[in-house]
Amino acid sequence: MLFKKGLSKIIPYEPGKPIEELKRSLRLKEIYKLASNEIPFVPVYIRKAICEEINNINRYPEANCFYLRKSLAVRLKVKESQIIFGNGSDELITLVLRATIEDKDEVIVGYPTFLIYELQARVHGAKIIRVPFKDLRYDLVSMAKKVNKKTKVIFIANPDNPTGTYLNQKEIEKFIKSIPKNVLVVFDEAYFDFAPSDFPKTFDFLRKRGNIVIMRTFSKVYGLAGLRIGYAVATEEIANVLNKIREPFNINRFAQVAALAAVKNEKFLKNTRTYILNEKEYLYKELSRLNVSFRKSATNFVLIEFKKDTSNLNAYLLKKGIIIRPLSGWGLKNYFRVTAGFRKENEKFISCLESYLNTEE
Ligand SMILES: Cc1ncc(COP(=O)(O)O)c(C=O)c1O
Repeated sequence: MLFKKGLSKIIPYEPGKPIEELKRSLRLKEIYKLASNEIPFVPVYIRKAICEEINNINRYPEANCFYLRKSLAVRLKVKESQIIFGNGSDELITLVLRATIEDKDEVIVGYPTFLIYELQARVHGAKIIRVPFKDLRYDLVSMAKKVNKKTKVIFIANPDNPTGTYLNQKEIEKFIKSIPKNVLVVFDEAYFDFAPSDFPKTFDFLRKRGNIVIMRTFSKVYGLAGLRIGYAVATEEIANVLNKIREPFNINRFAQVAALAAVKNEKFLKNTRTYILNEKEYLYKELSRLNVSFRKSATNFVLIEFKKDTSNLNAYLLKKGIIIRPLSGWGLKNYFRVTAGFRKENEKFISCLESYLNTEE
């Protein structure tokens, strides 16, 4: 057989429907995309940096992201050599697996969580150990019990996507102590900026234990999802390996200058966080009024439990130009996820949901 054995079992990742696709198929002018946990704002302050960089696009970008690395290291209080940049945190997940997995090594993942861990672990030939969530949260006790001599990596999305739940300082502290130092624990903190104050101080755990990789992204609170850039922080030793095996020019010029501007712009980050947290409260209030069950979330989206399969609701909302994220692909067929957008978008979603519920009942 030409291809690797595990590949036939791979179900391709299905991203949220793009705005452009719905515009093409329904010829609607206004589309409200609340499906992919992006923020609604365009960070226009990066325009100057991007425009200036156009003058250099005939040249390869700097392979080590020199200025961005310097600036981020200061901001995070880590050494420059501890940082690895990736083409989105998606690429960082791949790098960790590429660096660690040999035949039949095991990777522990929760379920239902971010699907890329499992998908990429399969591509790299790992045996996947799925540990079901308890009450829509990671079951850390059961995950720790699954560790054995073959375990290489444990992935934890904290806060989690798609449930929006999070693990606090105490829970992670206890967990990390129970994991041997030759197993790598990846904390994917894509939604870190929206999390509450008892969120774990993973940088302290990294200093104390070493067997930790912390991943963050510029795709969420910074609003740079379209440019594709994320970063990981680890010990120098681990970072060296991951940097050695990445493609040299994995971060394009625009992503580098935009992320640098973003790191320097505390105000945008603060305002975005405040806006999103406020919109989430609006969604909570309106969903309660409609008697729709939801889970409070530590992210920029809300997990909603529906009384039945969400496919009809999804079709109804698409016709109105609203893109939500049904979760049957995660085994949650009565659930969907909605990202907090602009107030206008959230209002439109709520009013369409209300009219759907009224016609259905
Ligand atoms: C938990 C989690 N990790 C990683 C990512 C990917 O982020 P990036 O855009 O940096 O690849 C996402 C995107 O939605 C996510 O939800």
